[in-house]
Amino acid sequence: MNTLGLIVLLLHLLGIAALLGGLLAQARDSEKRITPVIRDGVGTAFVAGIVLVGLLEAGDGDVNHLKIGVKFLVNLVVLVLVMANMRKPSIPNGLFWALTGLTVLNVVLALFWSGGHTY
Ligand code: HEM
Repeated sequence: MNTLGLIVLLLHLLGIAALLGGLLAQARDSEKRITPVIRDGVGTAFVAGIVLVGLLEAGDGDVNHLKIGVKFLVNLVVLVLVMANMRKPSIPNGLFWALTGLTVLNVVLALFWSGGHTY
């Protein structure tokens, strides 16, 4: 992957760090809520992920479309849940752990689902 691809991958990983960090920072709190860090993180991860696919498709990278399709759907669910609960003073524990679990699922898929990506 060229320098541009690596910069977008860095943005992708920083978005994921903000999303997961923003969630896990509240893991022990009795009141949990969607913070701007979580919102900006999931948005950045989503957009950078899509741009990454575009760069891989445009380059000589082989994209595992099924893997990317699953990651796209998981990220979309997280994004919609985050935006739908952004203005609420607090969110239920179940939603909090669902968002955390789905985000960790995408990390696991990215690392352990082989095939695709060259850089
Ligand atoms: C919560 C959402 C997401 C998480 C936690 C996540 C996680 C990751 C991680 C950990 C990597 C680095 C993997 C490695 O270096 O081996 C990665 C890379 C990548 N992600 Fe994501 N991702 C998410 C959403 C997306 C979305 C929505 C797309 C595209 C539609 C996407 C496309 C990619 C691509 C193309 C790469 C680089 C090549 C690869 O490793 O497959 N990701 N992602």
